[in-house]
Amino acid sequence: MTEAVSRVGVVGAGQMGGGIAEVSARAGADVLVWEATEELAAGGRARILKSLDRAVSSGKITERERDQAAERLTFTTDLADFADRQLVVEAIVENEAVKAEIFGKLDAVITDPDAVLASNTSSLPIQRIATATKNPGRVLGLHFFNPVPVLPLVEVISSLSTSEAAAARAEQFASEVLGKQVVRATDRSGFIVNALLVPYLLSAIRMYESGFATAEDIDKGMMLGCAHPMGPLKLADLVGLDTVKFIADAMYAEYKEPTYAAPPLLLRLVEAGYVGKKSGRGIYEYP
Ligand code: CAA
Ligand code: NAD
Repeated sequence: MTEAVSRVGVVGAGQMGGGIAEVSARAGADVLVWEATEELAAGGRARILKSLDRAVSSGKITERERDQAAERLTFTTDLADFADRQLVVEAIVENEAVKAEIFGKLDAVITDPDAVLASNTSSLPIQRIATATKNPGRVLGLHFFNPVPVLPLVEVISSLSTSEAAAARAEQFASEVLGKQVVRATDRSGFIVNALLVPYLLSAIRMYESGFATAEDIDKGMMLGCAHPMGPLKLADLVGLDTVKFIADAMYAEYKEPTYAAPPLLLRLVEAGYVGKKSGRGIYEYP
């Protein structure tokens, strides 16, 4: 087994990249985060610091642990700075072409053959991302759940080309360094969790769109009737309606089944820029 990962790279400081960077820094890793511009990097850093403050307020970490985690986080806009990273998690927009370009660059910059290049993709086949590299054996899926500091699961997805050494190293990082629970999934769009969750979220949007029930009652039904922590429409807003649409499109392209087709209301909300909690308005409003 190769040495445990202590130098982590995170590509993207949106809600998922920020969460992955935060839990990695809290676990003691040296974390380098890439964003496209200084402004996006500053925004990402501010969100992580706010989340660390929240962890202090709820008694999960001490002020000293917060400060130490913050010191372990560095930001860059240059992927060439990732040359010494042992494991990179890409967490940018759910778009195959954009991810493929990033993986091609990471593969060229990181020469250590034992380094792991992971994608946090929700739905894109890992095989297609891996083909953008010359070393597909070290490319895999490392799929975290939102909010990352709260949810304990990580899916590890091997493509047909992924080496078992890379998968084992990624699993060891997720379980032993981050303290997450790991499940292994096959390289099919949506893996385990989203293959079940996304048709449910889309069904809830269709139910609301048809006027069958109010958004509040649909959510209340699943919270109180099935003990879910939040209803499907609030959850779609939390994930991001843009991301829900990108995932639905990828799953529809993979399976060609109507259950994965994005309903018109989802398309209209995304076109309007009402993409959920992160934009202040989605199915619900977030003042
Ligand atoms: N970051 C860090 N911590 C957070 C947080 C965030 N964004 N949101 C909530 N928390 C913490 C709070 O600090 C609080 O911690 P304490 O109990 O220690 O005080 C705890 O979580 C509960 O938070 P709240 O009391 O504020 O709110 P809540 O009880 O309503 O829980 C929730 C909020 C954690 C989001 C909960 O509703 C939940 O788990 N919802 C379901 C989330 C889910 O299903 N996620 C999966 C999405 S699908 C996915 O991720 C895959 C994909 O590819 C799309
Ligand atoms: P987000 O909208 O919060 O962040 C998007 C990130 O992508 C930002 O860092 C942004 O700067 C970057 N980005 C956008 N366009 C780009 C481009 N053209 N080139 C380079 N970078 C670009 O999204 P998120 O929710 O953090 O999702 C990120 C990834 O994680 C996606 O692949 C998504 O499917 C996956 N994911 C999301 C969730 C969720 O619940 N939101 C859960 C698990 C996995």
